[in-house]
Amino acid sequence: MTTLATDILFSREIIHRRVGELALQISRDYQGRDLLVVGILKGAFIFMADLIRALGVPCRVDFVRLTSYGEGCVSSGTVRLTKDLETPIAGRDLLIVEDILDTGCTLSRLTDILGEREPASLKVCAFLDKPERRIVPFTADYIGFTIPDAFVVGYGLDLDEKYRYLPDVCVLRDIDGQGEG
Ligand code: XMP
Ligand code: MG
Repeated sequence: MTTLATDILFSREIIHRRVGELALQISRDYQGRDLLVVGILKGAFIFMADLIRALGVPCRVDFVRLTSYGEGCVSSGTVRLTKDLETPIAGRDLLIVEDILDTGCTLSRLTDILGEREPASLKVCAFLDKPERRIVPFTADYIGFTIPDAFVVGYGLDLDEKYRYLPDVCVLRDIDGQGEG
């Protein structure tokens, strides 16, 4: 059996500070606008909850869910919307909130789908960004932290639905066969 240890990459204090900075930047950019924050389930729910409570501007919220089929992702075409918005978005200012920008397939597909509905504006805020993993070119408008290519969990991010509840962002380390463990 594989035993995994969680090593802290970003502590809750560091996360709290960075989320505050992002919220300040977003609040300045959306002063006087009609902001709808769209969270991508499930991973973004904790980040989004912290972010919107730190905003200095009013917003409404909605959620989407997407799945990718096939092994990995060769293009954004392998991503499908399984839960749509409940809110019409034409003329609204949309901010999509995602836990992590990895291959780019999910966000590239989602911005295409939602862009067709003619929102007034459409921006993306990703808590984490792993640029080394990109397959489809994609740049987020707001990024919490840029990280190297390691699998991370916590603060909403999971491994097979485990670890989402961890307050810190952690890297998993295999501690099998490492002596006393
Ligand atoms: P793309 O389409 O950009 O999708 O590849 C990003 C999605 O991939 C998942 N993902 C991760 N989840 N730790 C996680 O818990 C990671 O290190 C990681 N990298 C990618 C995640 O679901 C994200 O929404
Ligand atoms: Mg996700």
